[in-house]
Amino acid sequence: MTDVRDQLKRPVRDLRISVTDRCNFRCTYCMPRETFGRDYVFLPRDQLLRFEEITEVARVFAGLGVNRLRLTGGEPLMRKGIEQLIGWLKEIDGIDEVMMTTNGSLLVRDAEMLVAAGLDRVTVSLDSLSDEVFMAMNDAGFSVATVLEGIAAAAAAGLDPVKVNAVVKRGVNDGEVVALAEHFRGTGHIMRFIEYMDVGTTNGWRLNDVVPAREIVATINGKFPLEPVDPNHKGEVARRYRYKDGAGEMGVITSVSQPFCRDCTRARLSAEGQLYTCLFAGKGTDLREVIRTEPDKLGDVISGVWSARSDRYSERRSEASLPFPKVEMSYIGG
Ligand code: GTP
Ligand code: 5AD
Ligand code: SF4
Ligand code: SF4
Repeated sequence: MTDVRDQLKRPVRDLRISVTDRCNFRCTYCMPRETFGRDYVFLPRDQLLRFEEITEVARVFAGLGVNRLRLTGGEPLMRKGIEQLIGWLKEIDGIDEVMMTTNGSLLVRDAEMLVAAGLDRVTVSLDSLSDEVFMAMNDAGFSVATVLEGIAAAAAAGLDPVKVNAVVKRGVNDGEVVALAEHFRGTGHIMRFIEYMDVGTTNGWRLNDVVPAREIVATINGKFPLEPVDPNHKGEVARRYRYKDGAGEMGVITSVSQPFCRDCTRARLSAEGQLYTCLFAGKGTDLREVIRTEPDKLGDVISGVWSARSDRYSERRSEASLPFPKVEMSYIGG
């Protein structure tokens, strides 16, 4: 393994792989209907990387230091045959974990198949326990029960503990935080609250909509006392807390209020094979073209891109010279 380092001496450890830009939800903070409506043109099938090609990119990354893979979307379970890809990814030397971030709506159908294929863990998004609030946020008529059943199916199939993600938006679901924490306390699952981020350019993000993690932790701590826990590994995205009464742990993702770029070890691959070295990047590198025309060069291209990397968007958020337009979350997978 060649341990490639970027300009800030950061290694590459995680590859987040978007397998489709489609989703059956229309979360207002990610795929607002005004933009992602009936006329929106998604990537045509022949533009997507084939599973063999994704596996080849992952293999090269594993040779450069990556040990964790995460499948994302859009909604990754909308890509047909994903179990085959999971099986191939699991066979790559150096890959310790293959994980998935999903909206949970298809887990009742798919959980057992995912486990059989070798998936190690799953993270499910759920922004509220109130149908009224949740449906307003997913804007596609999905009920809380559908997602809770998906989480239960994942746990029953052996994917526990499940991580549960809620994006917190001021005035929308900030009143739901304690109920979510309470619901998942003591279940073994890990509730995580995410600061609403300025990803992409279509969600109308305003700083006023962000609820700082500090405030979220203080609110929960008022009801269920918390204490901080050390990260599982360097560069972990979530800050961990444990309930002092032993009811498990929760986490917060502080991308806006306390950026964590210094330890960022994540690369991102879009469904059509563009490589991005930051969630907020303006442009990527076309790996599909490389695989299809000069496959032997893949290693050199990827290590060249990573060696040149100096991204730290979240730490520089307020500067004027940042890339524009940024890629959309549903395209790059979060
Ligand atoms: P674990 O390793 O299991 O903790 O997963 P994760 O937290 O890395 O993955 P997940 O897909 O659940 O992402 C949680 C949130 O963190 C999402 O809102 C992501 O967009 C965000 N996120 C993940 N990686 C980064 C990153 O490198 N930078 C920023 N700014 N946000 C990130
Ligand atoms: N800010 C923060 N998190 C977001 N997600 C999607 N859009 C945003 C945003 N603008 C979350 C999803 C999912 C994860 C991959 O990213 O809810 O849990
Ligand atoms: Fe779909 Fe996830 Fe985006 Fe919601 S946040 S629209 S579930 S990709
Ligand atoms: Fe990494 Fe970019 Fe996120 Fe910073 S903003 S943590 S560099 S992906």
